[in-house]
Amino acid sequence: MKAVVVTDFGTEPEFVDLPTPEPGAGEVLVRIHAAGVNPFDWKVTDGALKDSVTHDFPLVMGSDAAGVVERTGPGVTRFRPGDRVYGQFMRLPQGQGSYAEYTVAEQDGKIAHIPQALPFTLAAALPTASVTAYQAVQATRLERGHTLLINGASGGVGQSAIQFAARFGARVLATGTPEVADHLGDLGAHTVIDFTQGPTHEQVAAAHPDGIDAVLDLVTPTGGDISPMAGLLRPGGTLISTNHATHPDALAARGIRGVNFSNSPTVETLTTLAELAAIGELRVRIDAEVPLADAPALIAKARAGHATGKTVIVP
Ligand SMILES: NC(=O)c1ccc[n+]([C@@H]2O[C@H](COP(=O)([O-])OP(=O)(O)OC[C@H]3O[C@@H](n4cnc5c(N)ncnc54)[C@H](OP(=O)(O)O)[C@@H]3O)[C@@H](O)[C@H]2O)c1
Repeated sequence: MKAVVVTDFGTEPEFVDLPTPEPGAGEVLVRIHAAGVNPFDWKVTDGALKDSVTHDFPLVMGSDAAGVVERTGPGVTRFRPGDRVYGQFMRLPQGQGSYAEYTVAEQDGKIAHIPQALPFTLAAALPTASVTAYQAVQATRLERGHTLLINGASGGVGQSAIQFAARFGARVLATGTPEVADHLGDLGAHTVIDFTQGPTHEQVAAAHPDGIDAVLDLVTPTGGDISPMAGLLRPGGTLISTNHATHPDALAARGIRGVNFSNSPTVETLTTLAELAAIGELRVRIDAEVPLADAPALIAKARAGHATGKTVIVP
């Protein structure tokens, strides 16, 4: 099968031929129709998890995908050949991922069925970004009328988070450039803050001198200074970081709840999101559909940022 791999941490991705993996007991072989691209994909190949998980090389890049079950291993009861499925397929110890024609998943892992009405490209764009958005917004414990800042709202996680927060009845402040402001407003943002025109925290503080209820920070990197975001919160507020940049103990002393968030897909969450997307209640903008052979060049470009939606690889 064709696949995009790295041969070690930090090496350039390569488009290669690999043996098609075989499903073992309790596993399914999935023919991938579309793979979703996330910043996590290159953070992992750069070595983000090298001290905590074994990696097998050559390592197929990527996590998110949607496709069709081709074959099942012994003992598989949840899936049958021909089922349309999607989810997270990154298996670092086995060297397996989603930027490939085929991949293997555990039946009790992070995959679920998708409705017939949901295109593979849209399904592949959901797992990491929209599960993160869904669970992170839940973690903010928003109530109707609360004000939430989403810092980094113009990307994959942010666009879904705007929709979930707006559905809670929150007033959503979303960062974005003028090019995407109408789109973010359409998704449910109350105010769009142009972060290129001045520091976001200064603009929010000026408009909300009494503070806001929650911040979902998708921008501050691990080890970065998140205190300007924390400074926007009133006592009792919540600061969520998707890059593990918060210091919950220090924030607790100020009456603020800090959460270093990691997404954790379940069959129930994946099923809910697939159903919402299939009926248009969760909208995901696809920036680009790229052939698998072009994925190495795509990754180099995606690393530079400026996502205004999701990119999908089509084998
Ligand atoms: N912990 C978890 O479970 C988890 C799960 C998913 C994602 N994440 C992390 O969360 C972050 C966001 O993920 P994503 O998939 O949404 O990434 P993405 O699609 O690349 O979007 C990031 C967005 O942030 C914008 N941005 C960059 N700098 C900004 C700034 N200073 N102020 C405001 N906006 C800014 C970018 O716009 P420009 O590039 O145009 O500036 C881009 O639109 C990534 O770091 C990712 O690794 C963590």
